[in-house]
Amino acid sequence: MTKAFLTGITGQDGSYLAEFLLEKGYDVIGMVRRSSTVSFQRLRHIQDQLEIVQGNLHDQGSLISILEQYQPDEVYNLAASSFVPISSHQPVLTGDATALGVARILEAVRLAYPQARFYQASSSEIFGTVQEVPQTETTPLNPRGPYGIAKAYGHWMTKHYRQVFNIYACSGILYNHESPRRGLEFVTRKVTHGAARIKLGLAKELRLGNLEARRDWGYAGDYVKAMWLMLQQEQPEDFVVCTGETHSVRDLCESAFSYLGLDYLEYVVQDDRYFRPVEEKLLVGDPAKAHKKLGWKPTVGFKELIQMMVDYDFEDLKRQI
Ligand code: GDD
Repeated sequence: MTKAFLTGITGQDGSYLAEFLLEKGYDVIGMVRRSSTVSFQRLRHIQDQLEIVQGNLHDQGSLISILEQYQPDEVYNLAASSFVPISSHQPVLTGDATALGVARILEAVRLAYPQARFYQASSSEIFGTVQEVPQTETTPLNPRGPYGIAKAYGHWMTKHYRQVFNIYACSGILYNHESPRRGLEFVTRKVTHGAARIKLGLAKELRLGNLEARRDWGYAGDYVKAMWLMLQQEQPEDFVVCTGETHSVRDLCESAFSYLGLDYLEYVVQDDRYFRPVEEKLLVGDPAKAHKKLGWKPTVGFKELIQMMVDYDFEDLKRQI
């Protein structure tokens, strides 16, 4: 049986990837940090098929032991502190987990099981103030803010282990990817959940930041397939993974509210508290390399994605009333 080891298994991407790998017949081992409130909410339907192991990206020894014990064929490093604005308030913690955590897990692979193939969850935030539009695998990195800077370090370390230690290591430079399993603090889910609450009479307004901010929003279920494909190639390489299409937060509101028969202009309020001090503009990727070499293409478009999320939130909230 092919074995895969995942960090970040309790997160959105971890749950979709675990599901996908189980369907492929993998043995899936997921690392969780010990805490009094570990949430297995996204894994409940597959939890009995997973091997859950205690470990921590802050603890080098725990990673080496896991790699020695399980000798996984594939390692997916999805764990990180993923909410961008928080990183400005916790720059050291962000650096320790999101940057040094990558070095620690790569060291564990090198020391304990260098045959493993390694996937690093890189991010479009490494392009920061972009040096070209659209961005490709060769666009120079120019991150701003602790999150992007930490992800850039992880990105370069992955390349370093590939070039110097000959490890099959690659980074997926993923643009925003969403789903009904997205955390409520991210803007897509905040909007779909907020619109559903308003429709059900549970709220009167939705407070957001910059409505003109633009992002490329794809479906997380599609993006985990790209991660897997990256580890099935002959040579390890980095790939930009995105839809190539951007929409504004305003478009997002329009889609979600109108799907529920509401006019977003009557409910959405812009609030300074949710504006970012630095807003990345023109984050637009070019997925041509992933299309060509991986044969990967997204299957869920923007409108469909938002409707899927609204449907989920509406039904879920209705059940709770
Ligand atoms: N969260 C949030 N809340 N964002 C808002 C709001 C709001 O009330 N109002 C406007 N926005 C805008 C933000 O300013 C940003 O431009 C955009 O919505 C998306 O914000 P998020 O959903 O928080 O995601 P992100 O782009 O900062 O980061 C996500 O994508 C990256 C690239 O894939 C995260 O998933 C990162 O972990 C990931 O690396």
